[in-house]
Amino acid sequence: MTDHPLVIFTPSGKRGRFPVGTPVLTAARQLGVDLDSVCGGRGICSKCQITPGYGEFSKHGVTVASDALSGWNSVEERYKSKRGLIDGRRLGCQAQVMGDVVIDVPPESQVHKQVIRKSATERHIEMDPATRLYFVSVAEPDMHEPTGDFERLALALRDQWQIEDIEADLAIMRRLQPALRKGAWSVTVALHKGNHDMRHRVLDIWPGFHDAPIHGLAIDLGSTTIAAHLCDLGDGRVLASSGLMNPQIRFGEDLMSRVSYAMMNPGGDVEMTRAVREAINALAVSIAAEGGVEAASVYEVVIVCNPVMHHLLLGIDPVELGQAPFALATSGSLSLDARDLDFAALNRAARVYLLPCIAGHVGADAAAVALSEQPDQSDDMVLIVDVGTNAEILLGNKHRVLACSSPTGPAFEGAQISSGQRAAPGAIERVQIDPLTKEPRFKVIGSDLWSTDAGFAEATATTGISGICGSGIIEAVAEMRMAGLVDQGGLIGSPEQTGTWRTTPEGRTHSYVLHDGTAEGGPKIMVTQGDIRAIQLAKSALYAGARLLMDEMGIDKVDRVTLAGAFGAHISPKHAMVLGMIPDAPLDHVTSAGNAAGTGARIALCNVAARSQIEATVHQIHKVETAIEPRFQEHFVNASAIPHAVDPFPELSAIVTLPNVSFNTSGGGADGRRRRRG
Ligand code: FES
Repeated sequence: MTDHPLVIFTPSGKRGRFPVGTPVLTAARQLGVDLDSVCGGRGICSKCQITPGYGEFSKHGVTVASDALSGWNSVEERYKSKRGLIDGRRLGCQAQVMGDVVIDVPPESQVHKQVIRKSATERHIEMDPATRLYFVSVAEPDMHEPTGDFERLALALRDQWQIEDIEADLAIMRRLQPALRKGAWSVTVALHKGNHDMRHRVLDIWPGFHDAPIHGLAIDLGSTTIAAHLCDLGDGRVLASSGLMNPQIRFGEDLMSRVSYAMMNPGGDVEMTRAVREAINALAVSIAAEGGVEAASVYEVVIVCNPVMHHLLLGIDPVELGQAPFALATSGSLSLDARDLDFAALNRAARVYLLPCIAGHVGADAAAVALSEQPDQSDDMVLIVDVGTNAEILLGNKHRVLACSSPTGPAFEGAQISSGQRAAPGAIERVQIDPLTKEPRFKVIGSDLWSTDAGFAEATATTGISGICGSGIIEAVAEMRMAGLVDQGGLIGSPEQTGTWRTTPEGRTHSYVLHDGTAEGGPKIMVTQGDIRAIQLAKSALYAGARLLMDEMGIDKVDRVTLAGAFGAHISPKHAMVLGMIPDAPLDHVTSAGNAAGTGARIALCNVAARSQIEATVHQIHKVETAIEPRFQEHFVNASAIPHAVDPFPELSAIVTLPNVSFNTSGGGADGRRRRRG
């Protein structure tokens, strides 16, 4: 046995020689191995668990003897008897290196553990949260060398955790002395690390050792809906996900109508600010209850939103965003006290981080999409479309990234649709129409059965069939086009023209009866001519935005398309392309990313370095303004046809043949051709 045995860590493969008697935790730290510790090696937090391997390791060229680590000690025994420890595990701060040894660090013991993704669309997130707990032993006061308790806490953090530069507000100062005395000169502090100045702020303090989980909220503040994830800041797990309608809808459905509300009504912006803050507070309370935690255990919030929502949340009058040159009050990221935004339900010291905005119409939500989908790292040309009331569109690759936003309106979220509703149990989300019989079948949220399957009525008895959500209306319109019920201009044919009673007259136009539940006291769910027009307006805005970026990039086709948005994961790529929401692309190169803005918010919540990364990336993204670009109007008009008036869709044509029908008997072609900006 040598004086300096070899220590090899797995899975990192890091290795080094250490004096006999070195604690495994110390060896790990010196080698930069990711081994967690909250108590600083005092044997009370159990975060430092490791699994030593014994025997022959030919791969590493070592043989590990049974006494390669010091013996099981009383600290470990006490921990095991009180809180349990898996057989074979040791505490890294207690076990000392005595001979050559191979040591595995299990995922739970890694600080920068990766959050396991549950589905293919979910990103790996490396944990490195801004707020963490630290346990410290603070020197007792000495009459002969007088220093303040806070200064000795700062010294202890420097010596025991290499953390310099701490600050605390008055409320923490008031609690410091009792906490230190009650904890016999040991305390646990929740420290928040800024990503700019690297100063640490004490958010909370407890006597002695405290390891109750702390939580964070990642919020995607949209014009129509507010969606949030509640995350454990220790391991990144999502404990609950929830959402509610943005109450600002009552002031205007789209962004520009909210800006005009603020312009026309003195104090209107203040009202909207209050409404959205109250909604976020209420959401925090309900999501915490859903996750089984106290809202007061939320210490961090990351918010992504478009520029108008950003200003209204902050209490900044958005009037400048309603007129060229669309100047933001600030485009930089913001780090704030939750108290300043009236988030009273959260921990009193909670911090809020807002991602940077890209430009006047391209906000922190687009930045969050860029953080999640990383077009700037892509080898091929990717188009990322974040579908919402205001669509964020990014196009680019590792050489150049362009961004714009496009006013699609709320139709894709089920608003402005006659039977439209939020994606909730009972909403129709999938639709198929038989091209021969023109008969539909559908699925509703909450059941996996098609409406024609045996047992469907029983399976939907509690939810009912209440309406049609965003992904449902996209499929319905695309299926109607494929079944020859709707022509290229978007007109629904009469029963004589389509051969089915389901296209029933409604005034001077026709509607397709998707489901008639009136006999059972339920609603009659139809796709009306007005619904098709609303979808045409929305999809034209989306397509026109994408085309504008392609013009700017000087390309006619993209390599792949990523559909994102709160319901992005539910949009069928084929139906989106039939509708002409997105440019033509090989169908297997069109994928869904789910709520990419929400994922971006979650990444920024769980990884403080990602904040600096996206702050740097937004400077590289070139913004294209749709509002003042004449070609946008031209693209918009051409994109009204389903799928498109002039652009060929060769990839789509190879897999789908759209019936060549025309229901415009008036000859003028003017029916329903009014267009407006969302
Ligand atoms: Fe806390 Fe080992 S570091 S128990």
